Amino acid sequence: MTKVAILGGSGYTALELIKILLRHPHVEIAAVTSRQRDMPHLAELHPSLTGRIDLRCELFDVERLTTNGVQCVFSCLPHGASMVTVPALLQRGLRVIDLSADYRLRDPDLYAQWYGESHADRMHLAQAVYGLPELYGDAIATAQLVANPGCYPQTGILGLAPLAAGHCIEPRRLIIDSKSGVSGAGRTPKLTTHFPECNESVSAYQVGKHRHTPEIEQVLADVAGEPIEVIFTPHLIPMDRGIFSTIYAMPRRPLSEHELLEMYRSYYAHAPFVRVVEHLPATKDCAGTNFFDVTVRMVRDAIVVLACEDNLVRGASGVAVQNFNRMFGYDERTALL
Ligand SMILES: NC(=O)c1ccc[n+]([C@@H]2O[C@H](COP(=O)([O-])OP(=O)(O)OC[C@H]3O[C@@H](n4cnc5c(N)ncnc54)[C@H](OP(=O)(O)O)[C@@H]3O)[C@@H](O)[C@H]2O)c1
Repeated sequence: MTKVAILGGSGYTALELIKILLRHPHVEIAAVTSRQRDMPHLAELHPSLTGRIDLRCELFDVERLTTNGVQCVFSCLPHGASMVTVPALLQRGLRVIDLSADYRLRDPDLYAQWYGESHADRMHLAQAVYGLPELYGDAIATAQLVANPGCYPQTGILGLAPLAAGHCIEPRRLIIDSKSGVSGAGRTPKLTTHFPECNESVSAYQVGKHRHTPEIEQVLADVAGEPIEVIFTPHLIPMDRGIFSTIYAMPRRPLSEHELLEMYRSYYAHAPFVRVVEHLPATKDCAGTNFFDVTVRMVRDAIVVLACEDNLVRGASGVAVQNFNRMFGYDERTALL
């Protein structure tokens, strides 16, 4: 049994993690922390957990977690809060999977530029491994700190990785047009995600300046071995969960749809959660699962990649458990199929 703790207990990704980990035969959820001082029972925060787990939240206390024998901590905190919380855990030898963006960008100056504050934990930033198992699986297995990937970035990265690795696309001005359900913004209320503001409406936001842009470019540059430039445009759509991305790339040489599909199948041959499909994927088909569904088409000599995932499972808590499984030597699929 591996004892784990989850930080940020009242949030959406914490709820999703608890649901997945309750199915894990080798995990004991030893603690869930929250800032709420009255130590709410998890079922009070998340009524869907009624009868499924008998645990009260506790305030974050690193000594208590260590004494309790916790070996791995999932940080489901917002960016900024994670990087001031994680160092104490690492210093005590715990392994951490951080779901926030705090440890994803290797360059602290890039972090400051896109997140508007300087990085508070440069030392550990240097040792973080980007938690996309399909690309960094071996490094994840031995990492102490895993930077779980962003939900939008996964669709862009996994959607383009086979093409970038094969050097068969123009590396500049790749276009990623993404739509996300409202849970992507978290449970903390905001005006833009207030029901009358976003229901019956579709809108783009952060055009040309969304923080996931450098994350996508960093990872795709690793895959391609050359600089990558993307135009990433996110949209909010009136559904609870799910992300759909339509991605446009220009081929460097003529390619047929058949060749492209074969390229994707071969690239993801050993990736149990990537489904290369021939039909046009839809968020409903992977809702609540850890699957990433992708297909590809040629349209007027351009490559069009169509990809989708569940933002809370594949985009956050599911891939976190996939990383956890690799880190602790369990079958990658445990609790996820
Ligand atoms: N939602 C998604 O689809 C998604 C996908 C990928 C990655 N992520 C990332 O995962 C993290 C969690 O996302 P989420 O959707 O679960 O967010 P959320 O629903 O807003 O939950 C975050 C929780 O963190 C705690 N918290 C908030 N502000 C805090 C602060 N300043 N200091 C300490 N704790 C604080 C709160 O829990 P308590 O009140 O119980 O303390 C809050 O409920 C974020 O960094 C997010 O960017 C989210």
